[in-house]
Amino acid sequence: MDDIDLSLIGDLYRRYREPLARVRNSQRDLLRRTRGRMTAQLDDLEAEITYMLLRETRPETVMELGTFHGWSTTWILSALRDNGTGRLHSFDIVDDVVTNVPSDLSLGRWEFHKGDIRQNLAQVPTDIGYLFVDAAHNGRFAKWYLAELFPRVAPGTPVSVHDVFHGRRALPLTEGAVVLSWLRRTGTDFFTPSRKRAPAPHIALLELREKLGLGEPVHTGEDNPMIFFRMPGKRAEKTSPGTTTTGN
Ligand SMILES: C[S@@+](CC[C@H](N)C(=O)[O-])C[C@H]1O[C@@H](n2cnc3c(N)ncnc32)[C@H](O)[C@@H]1O
Repeated sequence: MDDIDLSLIGDLYRRYREPLARVRNSQRDLLRRTRGRMTAQLDDLEAEITYMLLRETRPETVMELGTFHGWSTTWILSALRDNGTGRLHSFDIVDDVVTNVPSDLSLGRWEFHKGDIRQNLAQVPTDIGYLFVDAAHNGRFAKWYLAELFPRVAPGTPVSVHDVFHGRRALPLTEGAVVLSWLRRTGTDFFTPSRKRAPAPHIALLELREKLGLGEPVHTGEDNPMIFFRMPGKRAEKTSPGTTTTGN
């Protein structure tokens, strides 16, 4: 797969338009059926990009850190179902997700690990082919996962991290600020559909979706702070966070 940028994502929207339209409909139904017990956190753009990157890269193993009620979980599982291959390992302290994920999505392809990821590192799968991060949003937690989780993920693996660009810039001491500084140090480019950070790509994607008949919202989130990137080339990041690293 090429670099994760606007051109790739536009291309993916055109190529996966049909299956994406079907998944958007079933996610809309799921939201209706689980009303009162499903809070959809990921917004439509973020969920769709995640779905399409999973379709395009066809990972055998996906790790999701932070399920909450299962909105991102069901989008990820839909992609694995449509790929006809792949397993998802999800981690969260709370287990509301377990009753929300329909069995036709979970059966044979999902494992949920309850508990604080910092105590459950031994359960992290090897050979992660896509890493999805949407858990605690403070800088301390980000430093922990940069030091302990990221080094387990092979260079080139697609990664997404939520809650980075709620504004034009990440606020100091937040998860976003810590991750962005690490991306800078490692010379890693990222893509964000964030309306606040990247208004032009954001509008371009909205226009393309409209043109493709995908304009009607699945849920009405308007905040799209997620960033998407590929794990940089060296596993040298197991140094203590905050120290200078060697880059790509
Ligand atoms: C923003 S929510 C996830 C939303 C979900 N991805 C979605 O699309 O709806 C963040 C989740 O991370 C979980 N979390 C926070 N810290 C965690 C930790 N140390 N280990 C495991 N899960 C954690 C929280 O319990 C919460 O359910």
